[in-house]
Amino acid sequence: MIYYPLSVLMLAGIKDILVVTRSIDLPGFRRLLGDGAHLGIRISYALQNVPEGIAHALTIASGFIGDQSVALVLGDNIFHGSGFSALVERHAKSVRGCVLFGYPVTDPERYGVGVTDADGRLVALEEKPTAPRSNRAITGLYFYDNQVVRIAQGVNRSARGEFEITDVNREYMRLEQATLVDLGRGFAWLDTGTADSLLEASQYVRTLEHRQGIRIACLEEIAVRKGYISLAEFARLGEQLASSAYGAYICELAKELDRSGGCGDAG
Ligand code: G1P
Repeated sequence: MIYYPLSVLMLAGIKDILVVTRSIDLPGFRRLLGDGAHLGIRISYALQNVPEGIAHALTIASGFIGDQSVALVLGDNIFHGSGFSALVERHAKSVRGCVLFGYPVTDPERYGVGVTDADGRLVALEEKPTAPRSNRAITGLYFYDNQVVRIAQGVNRSARGEFEITDVNREYMRLEQATLVDLGRGFAWLDTGTADSLLEASQYVRTLEHRQGIRIACLEEIAVRKGYISLAEFARLGEQLASSAYGAYICELAKELDRSGGCGDAG
């Protein structure tokens, strides 16, 4: 699952990544991803053992963020669609205030919900409202400028006992520095927070992968297409995994890229 959100950051051109996780899950992530060097990126780790909210994870990451801007993606979110790579790359390059991504859903009460006025300006943000004022869910991908460190530290605990990311976003909205970008209807945003949504996400990925013969969120493929690793390194990664279908895909793609002499579009 972590490959999907990680692919979003890599597609955005972000090469310095902090994984915030629980002690119990840390060895698994470390075994899978290491320090990211094989993908031409840097992965480090921080612990959040108590589920105190996404804004709290940002405060844990404050040393990592330093004086930079930052992108945050939730571990259970899947983003997929044509043109997505260029979109996130653009926002990662320069961010003023915060950039949120809105997506129409049939069950907005499960999410943060954004309300815009007639001019498309963001006028309200609510976390899991019982009576949502719009169907526009705020997805789990956020771009912030450096003010986020101070803002996240100032957030109070919510009724459900968490430091809510929606409260961080609300503060940006109060400062009139929150931008909401609508992900169009041809786009897929999926989460895996319930058994139903996990099954739907699996079906979506399976359908596209079977139909097109591609792999969604193959990190090695993104790394080579983005120029983070060479074609020779890519082929070597494939060989190490060659006994699996995933490794066979990389080996096949390495041959194809070698023949065509180019790495093309990352996604
Ligand atoms: C979190 C955020 C919510 C956002 C959602 C996206 O919800 O609090 O605003 O819409 O992620 O997946 P949670 O996963 O904490 O229920």
